[in-house]
Amino acid sequence: MQEGLSSGLPELKVSGTVVEKVEELRRLREQAKLGGGPKRIEQQHTRGKLTARERIELLLDDGTFQELGMFVVHRATDFGLDREKYLGDGVVTGYGYIDGRLVYVFAQDFTVFGGSLSETHAQKICNIMDLAMKNGAPVIGLNDSGGARIQEGVASLAGYAEIFLRNVLASGVIPQISAIMGPCAGGAVYSPALTDFIIMVKNTSYMFVTGPNVVKAVTHEDVTFEELGGAMVHNAVSGVAHFAADNEVECLQLIRKLLSFIPSNNMEDPPVVPPTDDPNRMDDELNSIVPDSPTKSYNMKDVIRRVVDHGEFLEVQEHWAQNIICGFARLNGRPVGIVAQQPSVLAGVLDINASVKAARFVRFCDCFNIPIVTFVDVPGFLPGVSQEHGGIIRHGAKLLYAYCEATVPKVTVITRKAYGGAYDVMSSKHIRGDINFAWPTAEIAVMGPDGAVNIIFRDEIANSPDPEATRARLVEEYVAKFANPYVAAGRGYLDDVIEPRETRPKLIAALEMLKNKRDTNPPKKHGNIPL
Ligand code: HXC
Repeated sequence: MQEGLSSGLPELKVSGTVVEKVEELRRLREQAKLGGGPKRIEQQHTRGKLTARERIELLLDDGTFQELGMFVVHRATDFGLDREKYLGDGVVTGYGYIDGRLVYVFAQDFTVFGGSLSETHAQKICNIMDLAMKNGAPVIGLNDSGGARIQEGVASLAGYAEIFLRNVLASGVIPQISAIMGPCAGGAVYSPALTDFIIMVKNTSYMFVTGPNVVKAVTHEDVTFEELGGAMVHNAVSGVAHFAADNEVECLQLIRKLLSFIPSNNMEDPPVVPPTDDPNRMDDELNSIVPDSPTKSYNMKDVIRRVVDHGEFLEVQEHWAQNIICGFARLNGRPVGIVAQQPSVLAGVLDINASVKAARFVRFCDCFNIPIVTFVDVPGFLPGVSQEHGGIIRHGAKLLYAYCEATVPKVTVITRKAYGGAYDVMSSKHIRGDINFAWPTAEIAVMGPDGAVNIIFRDEIANSPDPEATRARLVEEYVAKFANPYVAAGRGYLDDVIEPRETRPKLIAALEMLKNKRDTNPPKKHGNIPL
C-alpha cells in the first residue's frame, strides 16, 4: 500500500480553536502536495520525470496557479481501496495564466495509483473543462496515467466517457492541448487523441491502447515500450503526435509557444504581437531559389523562413509526412498557419499521410480564425497500388474538403508546379482562395509535360519516323504553352504574378486587406468529411 490518508481520513482534526482549524487546513494542504508520498516522488524524479505540481509551476506564469479540488478523494471501497486514499485523488486541477492569458490545466499525478483515472479524478477534470468552456479559455492536459483505475471498474470507464464527451463538445470552441509526460495507456490516450495537439517527451513518454505485455499475449510480438509507442514512433511513424520534446521543460515551454499563435476561443482573433520585422522587407535570394531544372529540388522551409517575421516558424508534425509542411508563423505580427509542399521530400507529392496531415491543420486554423498561407509546388497525387488500395481517394478528399469549407482568409503562392487535381486542392481560387499569387517559375497544367505528351500525342509519336525527336519537340511545345503562370493569370485564376523577392510585402498587404473577411457556409448540422 502507498503512504497516504487512510479510509475516511481518520486523522482529520476538524474541531478545536480557530487557530487549530487553520493549522489543520495548512497540514492538509501540505499533505495534498505530497501526492503519493516522498518515496513515490523520489521514484518519479529518478525516472527523469517531474511531479504534477512541478510541471504546473513550469507551465504557468509565476505564482498564477489557483488549485481547485485539492481535497477530493475517491469513493471506491473494493480491493482495499477504502483504506487507501489521497487528497486530490491523483490529479491536480485548476487555472492560471500563460503570458497573462487565462488557461485551465490538469496534471495527472503518477505517484497516486499510477495517475490512473477514477470516478472522482474524472470529475475534477470535467469540472475545469466545463469552466473552460463557459469562460472561453484553453484546456491543457499534462497526462501521466495508467488509464482507467482498474479497481473502480465501470465507474472509471464512465469517467473517461464524460471526458471524451467534453473533449468533443469543446473541439473547435476552445483550444485543447495534451502533453504526454509518462506511460499513457488505454483511456489515457483517447482523450489526448480528441484534442488539437499532442506533445510527447522523448524517452519518458509512451502512448498505446494496450501495452507490450498484452501485445505479446495476443499477437506474440515482442516489442518494447519505446518501439510500440515512444515519442518518435508517434511523431514519425503513426502521426498520432504533433511535437516531440527533448525533455519535460522543453515540452512545457513548447505549450506556451504554441498558445502564442492561437486565440483563447473560436470567437476571438489570434493574439497580435507588435511587429518588429519590416513589412516591406524584400528578399533577393528568393528570386533564385527555384532551380532552373524542374526536376531539381529546393528546401521550401528556406522560402518560409525568408518570408515570415524574423524567420520564426513553429512546425507542426515536422517528423511525419515530410512532403508537406504545416506550421505557425507571423506576418507583420499577425499569426498565420502555413501549409506548403516540400519539393525536397518525394518531390512534394500529395500522398495519403500528407493529405491527412494538412487537412487536419487547415481545419484547426479555420476553427480558430487563423489565416492560411499556402505555398504550392506539387507534381500531383502519388500514383501506385499501395496508395490506391490505402484509400488516397478518400484521404486526398479530406484535404480538398478542408480547404473548400475553410472561411478564414486564404492566400496562396504557387512557386513552381501546380499539376492536376493537386492544383485545385491547394487553395486554388476556385475553392475560395482569396488572393492567389504565382511566381514567374510557376507551371500550372493538368499534368507534367512528359505525361501529357505521352497521352495526347501517343499515336503521333508512335507513327513518326523518329519517335524520340517527335516526343522531344512536342514536350517543348507543351512546356512553352503550359509551363508558365500566364495562362491561369489570363483567365483570372491568379490575382497576380509576383517576383519571388516581393512575396513578404505582397502577403502582408493581402492579409491586411482580408483581416475583416467574413464568409459563411450553408447552415447545416455538420458536413460529412470523408473520414
Ligand atoms: C490502477 C494502476 C493502474 C491502473 C498503474 N497502476 N496503472 N492502478 N489502475 N490502470 C498502479 C500500479 O499498480 C502501481 O502501483 C503504480 O500505479 C505504478 O505502476 P507501475 O506498473 O509500477 O509503473 P510502470 O512500471 O512505470 O508501468 C506503468 C504502466 C503500467 C505501463 C502504466 O502500470 C500498466 O501497464 N498499467 C495498466 C495499464 C492498463 O492496462 N490500464 C487500463 C486500460 S483500460 P503499486 O502500488 O503496485 O506501485 C482503459 C479503459 C478505457 O483505460 C478505455 C476508454 C476507450
